[in-house]
Amino acid sequence: EKAGHRHFMAKEIHEQPQTLSDVLAAYLDGDRVAPPVDHDFAAADRVVMVACGTANFACSVAKYWFEGLARMPVDVDIASEYRYREGPVSPASTALFVSQSGETADTLAALRYARGKAAAIVSVVNVTTSSIARESDVALPILAGVEVGVASTKAFVNQLAVLLCLAIRAGVQRGVIDSEREAALVAGLRRLPGLMSQAMAIETRCEELASRLAEASDVLFLGRGLMFPMAHEGALKLKEISYIHAEAYASGELKHGPIALVDRTLPVVVLAPTDALFDKTVSNMQEVMAREGQVLLVTDSEGAARASEGVWQTLVMPAIDPLMAPILYAVPAQLLAYHTAVHKGTDVDQPRNLAKSVTVE
Ligand code: F6R
Repeated sequence: EKAGHRHFMAKEIHEQPQTLSDVLAAYLDGDRVAPPVDHDFAAADRVVMVACGTANFACSVAKYWFEGLARMPVDVDIASEYRYREGPVSPASTALFVSQSGETADTLAALRYARGKAAAIVSVVNVTTSSIARESDVALPILAGVEVGVASTKAFVNQLAVLLCLAIRAGVQRGVIDSEREAALVAGLRRLPGLMSQAMAIETRCEELASRLAEASDVLFLGRGLMFPMAHEGALKLKEISYIHAEAYASGELKHGPIALVDRTLPVVVLAPTDALFDKTVSNMQEVMAREGQVLLVTDSEGAARASEGVWQTLVMPAIDPLMAPILYAVPAQLLAYHTAVHKGTDVDQPRNLAKSVTVE
């Protein structure tokens, strides 16, 4: 059932080019984005996205997409905070809930809080028969198939893919994206599964680096823009399966506190595809190196050529449209955590204290 893999998590990581291509087939039609159920974002004044854990990081990535591609204001909240804060809900807003299981107690309670206050309840779920799907006006499937590993991998990637499709659709509906731009974006989406297969080539390097990461007591993840929530995802994956303390920071926040932690024992994973913010991230990375922090730079070949000097290790990813990079950069986040956990001998698929579906608050 693990299809020759040692763990479900490994199987699910390697399934991603296929599961990604499955969800894109359901959300794309020729050179258009065509979700299986069409929600009208043009009528909404804002989007409020609520979720827990990994799903919440998918929402944080989607905030950049909705703001940039559809010029829509977006709030992202953690379900356990949103449900009790009694925040005002705009009657013209779309409330969007993201959940793999569709049964997370806090996310469901947050949905019930928004019901009757927001104009529409939209959910992005893997389990389409779940409570969250049933209680939504529109339930959009992520089509990742059954995810067994407690640490979410393929569901996270497909949540991102669906949210990016929705952001593009919203941009089209709101007149921000014309048909030429839509076709170019769809062409980029269609290249993703192939790029993801190529990205799996970094696995051998991740395995080599795992022995060193496994010795660390703390690991810092840095990123800017779309890579900031991805840094959170990398830190979460590492802590939940390898039990190593990991933290994420926005690169630009480094000098406002966490740089005090940097010394030669601290591995610092820098997620930096070459994008408009690359040079800014590199200058933050150099501040880490000046304090002897061990930088593991995850970038593309152009980034490696421009910034590898003095870094401890470089992982070279395929080049990609920076807008879509989060979907690809989920892979190094997962593989670094996975191989570090395997090296430490922890229970990768069933980490201590964790449950696949958190049905109590
Ligand atoms: C992390 C992880 C959790 C879940 C969170 C929400 O790898 O799996 O953080 O993402 O418990 O679960 P769902 O998506 O089922 O609501």
